[in-house]
Amino acid sequence: MSDYYSHMNLPKPVVPALPQLELLKGQTALVTGANSGIGRAVALALGKAGANVVVNYISRSEDAESVAAEVRDSGRRAMTFRADVSDEEQVEAMFAAAIGEFGTLDILVSNAGIEKNAPFHEMTAAQWDAVMNVNLRGAFLCARQAVREFLRRGVRRDVSVAAGKIIFISSVHEVIPWAGHVNYAASKGGLMLLMKSLAQEVAEKRIRVNAIAPGAIRTPINTAAWETPEAYADLMKLVPYKRIGEVDEIGRAAAWLASDFTDYIVGSTIYMDGGMTLYPGFETGG
Ligand code: BGC
Repeated sequence: MSDYYSHMNLPKPVVPALPQLELLKGQTALVTGANSGIGRAVALALGKAGANVVVNYISRSEDAESVAAEVRDSGRRAMTFRADVSDEEQVEAMFAAAIGEFGTLDILVSNAGIEKNAPFHEMTAAQWDAVMNVNLRGAFLCARQAVREFLRRGVRRDVSVAAGKIIFISSVHEVIPWAGHVNYAASKGGLMLLMKSLAQEVAEKRIRVNAIAPGAIRTPINTAAWETPEAYADLMKLVPYKRIGEVDEIGRAAAWLASDFTDYIVGSTIYMDGGMTLYPGFETGG
């Protein structure tokens, strides 16, 4: 991280180190798309916060293995599982394996997401379907399996006052329209009401469903937006706080949102975007 900031001649943001915590002790979390970017940071933070972690991935198994190894270094258990989140059978097999290994599941972080950008008139049906399948159908399939397990098991008061927690990693584009990315914005807009409707449906069962909506976070998905000084300067026009975000910041929020500290947060989206959703075009008064 420091290399990037010194290379760009920018101040390095301070993300305080996450100490070893017992916040999620005895709980098991499944994180989709956990071998890179935000998913990786979330998996590591949940491990630090006390949870055993199931590291889902679709490609680059060696990266998933290294995330699992790092979780084990914090003294928790971890397993990796290759599954396409948009494939019903693979998702069912993954949850069965996770529950087989750890006995049950307490936390789902539905993070896997992709972009297939194109001008609308050139967008292929394949690009549309790929994004919808991973970002929306994948979130549905994984959340459904998690809810089934939470309902089956109910509250285990020794580990949490809730019967289970689901965190969807959404995007500021659940509310900010995004030209050239219509499929992505539509998938995240859909995810917003998936989250809220599900939260409403299962709240009385003490299942907490929420979302984190990141803005511009420095990950492989948006390299073009931050890798050159020109791109970075353009990006900053959209960020009142005038810096890009780091994946570890999302990880820390996920650990907090999965913990009983936030037991009364139900059906909320936590925007982590340096103010991107504040209509930055009006910074100068409009
Ligand atoms: C997208 C990124 C983008 C960010 C802010 C995210 O959801 O995946 O590519 O930089 O939103 O626009």
